[in-house]
Amino acid sequence: MNDRLFIFDTTLRDGEQSPGASMTKEEKLRIARQLEKLGVDVIEAGFAAASPGDADAIRTIAETIQNSTVCSLARANERDIHAAGGAIKPAKSGRIHTFIATSPIHMEKKLRMQPDQVVEAAVKAVKLALEYTDDVEFSAEDAVRSEMDFLVRIFDEVIKAGARTINVPDTVGYSIPALWGERMKQLIERVPNSDKVIWSTHCHNDLGMAVANSLAAVMNGARQVECTINGLGERAGNASLEEIVMAVRTRKDVFHCDTRIDATQIVPASKLVSTITGYPVQPNKAIVGANAFAHESGIHQDGVLKHRETYEIMRAEDVGWNANRLTLGKLSGRNAFKTKLAELGIVLDSEEALNTAFARFKDLADKKREIFDEDLQALVSDEGYATEHERFKLLSMKVCSETGEVPHAQLVFTDDGAEKQAAGEGSGPVDATFKALESVVNSGATLLLYSVNNITSGTDAQGEVTVRLAQDGRVVNGQGADTDIVVASAKAYLHALNKLHSKRERAHPQV
Ligand code: KIV
Ligand code: ZN
Repeated sequence: MNDRLFIFDTTLRDGEQSPGASMTKEEKLRIARQLEKLGVDVIEAGFAAASPGDADAIRTIAETIQNSTVCSLARANERDIHAAGGAIKPAKSGRIHTFIATSPIHMEKKLRMQPDQVVEAAVKAVKLALEYTDDVEFSAEDAVRSEMDFLVRIFDEVIKAGARTINVPDTVGYSIPALWGERMKQLIERVPNSDKVIWSTHCHNDLGMAVANSLAAVMNGARQVECTINGLGERAGNASLEEIVMAVRTRKDVFHCDTRIDATQIVPASKLVSTITGYPVQPNKAIVGANAFAHESGIHQDGVLKHRETYEIMRAEDVGWNANRLTLGKLSGRNAFKTKLAELGIVLDSEEALNTAFARFKDLADKKREIFDEDLQALVSDEGYATEHERFKLLSMKVCSETGEVPHAQLVFTDDGAEKQAAGEGSGPVDATFKALESVVNSGATLLLYSVNNITSGTDAQGEVTVRLAQDGRVVNGQGADTDIVVASAKAYLHALNKLHSKRERAHPQV
């Protein structure tokens, strides 16, 4: 019989620590709902002590999610544990994940604490967390550079204090599979009562080995993997959920364990996270990249046509690729629209939101003959973008681009309800649009990234634009979708400005 491998998703916490990936409460909730549908065991929804906004988002997720455990991160101190305990309180199943650094360099230079004090703080934190929930996880931050004897000691103490999950993080992405597997094996062998807890691994991707290291830990007894959708996360990211899940599923002969993940929800989850955070997925990314199942060479195509398994170890449809299923058309009614949204797991919280989304769907159906699942997802995301912190809103625009002439753009938009006109020239229509907007808004923000993705195929497809802006140390991503990519660009720019102007400040969880 195969063991159960628990999937702990930290897209909403460690993933959110990627530059510009910070999410609003509504965005986090949408991702949390998709993670629940995907079947993850634990959703690390945030770091409650980081800001009141983060605590509020965790609380809302805890109120909503029924089939996954909802978790908050907390440093090993009273304030953090109280904040985490309060935030997860409404959860059907709630966890507190407390951590403290255990490596000599972190203890001495960062915490300025003696090892004895670190053990004491860890034990105290676990005991306090147990007053809120019996599901307490302890992590030894920078375990990769921690001394083995010290890890054994602190894990022994926190298990005695009542921790149920022991997480071993490679915080800086420094390990290699053979060493990481060996570390997990030794810990399980040496820590007393190791069979009473779930051993977990949490790997970062600085050397490109987060997934390989996590899997090595699984081969040596870890039964929880901490990971993120699309491998989103600090610096080079975290171990990618989809790769872990499909590796253990495809190679059961090697791993002898499986998850309860509904793999057909992987691609929708990947798309949702990419859309919301503005982090595109590279085409050659395993499982969720656009080319992951594309066979280009004639020999491969011939082989696959004759017998699929000649070159395919997984089936595209098993991970949620569904060749742009036609969903709705111009004549579809409000009920069909509502039913389709529910099927896609999209919940609009008011009749008004549904009416606005339906009106937008009708507009889109006028421009685009066939509407696919992906179009609906983008349309609703776009609606979500428009309703949050909506200081600026595009009303209309006109762009002229002609060979031999300087492109220019004219826009009409609202600024806190007041109508504004903007005009500008640029090296291309998008440049002219951004310059026109800036000439009126004067945000002074620096454009860090501009990218366009087509949502479905075909020249009538909607383009989804991501704009990343930086202003006074804050980095935000804005998105916009439209069949006209210049309009999508204007929407994305205004969306990013709306985020910059929103009052929501989010602290970096590990500062
Ligand atoms: O990378 C890390 O060490 C972490 C801990 C908080 C688990 O994210
Ligand atoms: Zn981490």
